[in-house]
Amino acid sequence: MARALCPGSFDPVTNGHLDIIERTARHFEDVLVAVIRNPQKSESLFTLEERQEMLREVTAHLPNIHIGSFKGLLVDYAKEHDAQAIVKGLRAMSDFDYELQMAQMNERLSGIDTFFISTSPQYSFLSSSLVREVARFGGDVTNMVPPAVAKRLVERFGDPAERAGDDK
Ligand code: PNS
Repeated sequence: MARALCPGSFDPVTNGHLDIIERTARHFEDVLVAVIRNPQKSESLFTLEERQEMLREVTAHLPNIHIGSFKGLLVDYAKEHDAQAIVKGLRAMSDFDYELQMAQMNERLSGIDTFFISTSPQYSFLSSSLVREVARFGGDVTNMVPPAVAKRLVERFGDPAERAGDDK
């Protein structure tokens, strides 16, 4: 059995990510979850250390998971760490075009194949960016992220239950 690499921004890790990581851990001997150091998107909400710490907390029950970080090309990191497969979750067709393109590019660059796991339907709407937005404006995200992440969001933005009365 091989080592799989699950890359992402994980800003923050959601229940959807965790589901993909847990399912990957069932199929591979060893899973390296790699956090990108400088996500190109917007500025990240959580630091690299915080994103890694949350991942460690929420995957503590899985013995074959390691948390790392990378910058630069994913395939270089995969080769350095002897990963034979990249694993990604696919939520909807909107993910597919870009993910297919990246998978083909990564295969062309390195010969490393990407395996896709279909996101569980209850998580298909879920993304870190939406979680950040909802939490920022006082919405309740407790069913969307692991408890350790919900706690960090409350520390960052305040408790939604308490904030509900703010404008009254
Ligand atoms: O969680 P995200 O933001 O969807 O993760 C995207 C990520 C980090 C997996 C992707 O942007 C990536 O692999 N970046 C590394 C740079 C790289 O290798 N680019 C070429 C891809 S073909």
